Amino acid sequence: MQLTFPENFWWGAATSGPQSEGRFHKPHANVFDYWYDTTPTDFHNFVGPNTASDFYHSFRADIKLMKQVGLNTVRTSIQWTRLIDDFETASLNPDGVRFYNEVIDEFITNGITPIINLHHFDLPVELYQQYGGWESKHVTDLYAKYAEQCFRLFGDRVKNWFTFNEPMVIVEGQYLHQFHYPKIVDGKKAVQVAYNLALASAKAIAKYRGLTENNDGKIGTILNLTPAYAASDEPADQEAARIAELWTNKLFLYPAILGHFPEELVELLTKDQVIWESTPEEAELIKHNTIDQLGVNYYHPFRVQRPDISPDSLMDWMPNKYFADYDLPGRVMNVDKGWEIYPQALYDIALNIRDEYHNIPWFVSENGMGVSREERYLNEQGMIDDQYRIKFMKDHLTWLHKGIEAGSNCFGYHVWTPIDCWSWANAYRNRYGLIRNDIRTQTKTIKASGHWLAETSKQNGFTI
Ligand code: GAL
Repeated sequence: MQLTFPENFWWGAATSGPQSEGRFHKPHANVFDYWYDTTPTDFHNFVGPNTASDFYHSFRADIKLMKQVGLNTVRTSIQWTRLIDDFETASLNPDGVRFYNEVIDEFITNGITPIINLHHFDLPVELYQQYGGWESKHVTDLYAKYAEQCFRLFGDRVKNWFTFNEPMVIVEGQYLHQFHYPKIVDGKKAVQVAYNLALASAKAIAKYRGLTENNDGKIGTILNLTPAYAASDEPADQEAARIAELWTNKLFLYPAILGHFPEELVELLTKDQVIWESTPEEAELIKHNTIDQLGVNYYHPFRVQRPDISPDSLMDWMPNKYFADYDLPGRVMNVDKGWEIYPQALYDIALNIRDEYHNIPWFVSENGMGVSREERYLNEQGMIDDQYRIKFMKDHLTWLHKGIEAGSNCFGYHVWTPIDCWSWANAYRNRYGLIRNDIRTQTKTIKASGHWLAETSKQNGFTI
């Protein structure tokens, strides 16, 4: 059977500035740059962001390869720490402006539509040191100024903007589960940061809408949506899933699309005395600056069960006091990465957006499979024969297609990632690319999955 996708479907891939460019000529360090400079031992094989995949130097050749694997759209991000010299005034760094202009033009020359994201975990470390980063409302204003510069500079050619990638990962990584610098555990701050990120997104959108030039495109945000599946039908597990859903998904979906925070969550955070500080003016701003389109990053499902200790226990405030992870017996795993593989979730996400979020236009902005020691799969021709990745994409696209048939307004699918890139503290451990990068030589070669995607993009679908 042939699966055909809607006309003008985005067959693409996503990367980010901090994970691909390398730090060359950046006027500032972001939190990851700083973390690596101070504690390189926290990074897999001590590999940091300094060179990454050298996109700063090799973007023209890299974009040619992206074209060869059939991508009609590619997302990357602008680095705040590259584009801006003075954060308070958002003055421009000339080399940053030159670089992003050339990258955007090169994409367009190659027939690839550039999709630009403004923040991919890469807070300037100075703003953390001076103001506490996203804990501070002043930083949300500085971010909006930087965003406005981007719209003015590149909005004549970039028509699809995204304000943030996975704001929840910033909250969890920096303030709850200690996997991003500064690795704090502080529930109250985490809640304020979540609010401030939603506010910052609305402020950037307001800037976009306020421009009279270069604002004829669309603006959205990118969320990692992982439906919370309850371990059983029992009320305690159902309740755990309800709260997990409120915290991990609705917290950002509601303000972005519906223009307000979920009431049940506000009640719960108020009862627990961790509710954010907010003003009626901010509520108005959020209400009037919702997104045009949504990006959904999906890798694995989120299965939850009742917590094994009572929420009345003496403990720091953590959302996880209301739910615990659950491992489904017999689940399909990518054991190496430690993630369950559950393609059907894309169908569930599609229907959820259709039914609960006005069927807003959306696309899968990241989906992919991280595999370590991929040289295991080099064939005689020297190509990574990643049949597991082709299967992963086919299975996910098959369920996505069912969601589209059921009326969900999905307009694209982006693989994480075009070219093997630097993955934060995991560095280059897990490879996700359609194109291999030998990081010792920066030699880039197309994998079997890249050839598969080229054909799929050309056919606007595939046979199952
Ligand atoms: C996502 C993130 C990407 C990339 C990916 C694979 O959460 O947006 O930057 O690291 O995970 O690990």
